[in-house]
Amino acid sequence: MLYELLLASTVLCLTYNIYKYMVKKTIKLPGPRGLPFIGNIHSFIQDGGPVWQVQKWANKYGDTFKINILGEEIVILSDYDSIYEALVERSNDFAGRPFEKSYVTKKLFSHGIFIQDFTQRFEANKKLGSRGLKQHGDGIGRIVNLSNENISQTVKEFKEENGQPFQPHDKLQNLFCRIIICVLLGENTPYKEDDGEFARKWLEDIEVNLRGPFFYLIQMFPWTRYFGNPVYSTMNEMMKCRNKTFTEWIERFKHYKQESGERTLIKELLAAKEDGKMTDDGIFGIMIETFIAGIFTTHTTTSGFLLAMMNFPDIQSKLHEEIDHVIGKDQLPELSDREKMPYMEATILETLRYMSMITPIFHKTTCDTNIAGCDLPKNTQVWMNLYGMHHDKRYFKHNPDSFVPSRFLDSDGHLVPHEERKAVLAFGAGRRVCLGEVLAKTRMFLLFTQLLQNFYFEQADPENPVLFDMRKFIAGPDTLVATKFKIVAKPR
Ligand code: HEM
Repeated sequence: MLYELLLASTVLCLTYNIYKYMVKKTIKLPGPRGLPFIGNIHSFIQDGGPVWQVQKWANKYGDTFKINILGEEIVILSDYDSIYEALVERSNDFAGRPFEKSYVTKKLFSHGIFIQDFTQRFEANKKLGSRGLKQHGDGIGRIVNLSNENISQTVKEFKEENGQPFQPHDKLQNLFCRIIICVLLGENTPYKEDDGEFARKWLEDIEVNLRGPFFYLIQMFPWTRYFGNPVYSTMNEMMKCRNKTFTEWIERFKHYKQESGERTLIKELLAAKEDGKMTDDGIFGIMIETFIAGIFTTHTTTSGFLLAMMNFPDIQSKLHEEIDHVIGKDQLPELSDREKMPYMEATILETLRYMSMITPIFHKTTCDTNIAGCDLPKNTQVWMNLYGMHHDKRYFKHNPDSFVPSRFLDSDGHLVPHEERKAVLAFGAGRRVCLGEVLAKTRMFLLFTQLLQNFYFEQADPENPVLFDMRKFIAGPDTLVATKFKIVAKPR
């Protein structure tokens, strides 16, 4: 039934877009021809997912090209110069978000930060979110303490596996969930086991159920929800679960009043509501974004790091050596250790580069502007192909498709100057830079260090090793997510 609907909607679309298609060819860039009226949309379900199709086109059409989706021209940038120009040099011109026609994304993440267009509401929400995460000054000390405490708990859980193969994903997901709940609600509000269940359910839906043809169908043709599109009922369940959980969290937060005066994200949001500057929808929107982004991204990056450790024992032993030398085995890591551990910094940087798990990033022009010498009208969608840029030989000379942390080190083992690693923009840059960059980098450093202080990581089945191969990751519309695997964590 739904496939017939897909056909019917395509036909309707043909009629609706005919005028647009005939007249709207305003952007003078090369690009794939596509099918009449639907453009290149069908290509996104081929070749393992959108990210790989974008790489193929970039190889063929170059750094700057356009595609066509249902009559709309979309520009894709793949090289550092134009991505930097758009994100940083003319940040305001490219700071819009193109989600007004994306039904699922809009429903699930409305009123927050990520999907908001470049409006005053966006700026106010981002400022509030940033204040609430407290990633600077005293706030960072608090993040270090609560991260270290929770990571030690995960280390204990890994030890309980007694060096036998196990799947680390749920333990890691619980870890990030515990940390982000502390960040949201403050340390005085107790964590409950159900909180982890909520995260698991949402992330599973995002990673597994919000994919494939039904997802794209309802995303573009919301009326298919009246004809049994299964994604619609998944979304409704997710929203119900979100509203119930967040209402309970806010009540719990109010119950365990934060005597310390510590300003947590919830406290900031509730205070803004009292001042008439925030709605309930806004509170839920910002909470769900920080919650999901706070778990999903770092969780996937950690899976990548563990895959790297299992596959490259020489890299792992260099990290062991560095940790033993700088911190030893019994002391908890501190942020000040980071600058003394260039090999760890290089390995984190390489993990972010090699994986490029958020790609492409979706932007939109906020005025008539231009990029790489090409004029773009206001409201043009511009996608930044971070994976392409991070795997470009021009910026990463030693085989960009290999995992090589030492590419970021000089001959004395120091981190190369910023100029030589500037093309790693895993958190974006400029107006729409990631809100949780400092939190994410801090947690990754503390977690990876504590894990390697305590374990040797090995393949669960050396005869059938699990490779660190991005092609094996699940490709969503703008993400690459690791599938589950088993690992051995041998105590050191
Ligand atoms: C390894 C971890 C992470 C990576 C690689 C990552 C990467 C990114 C990227 C590439 C963007 C889009 C930038 C753009 O569109 O120009 C982004 C945006 C965002 N990230 Fe992250 N992120 C991570 C962790 C986090 C964490 C821990 C949080 C929150 C606690 C977070 C919250 C956000 C938010 C709210 C935005 C939207 C910002 C905006 O639209 O202005 N992220 N992130």
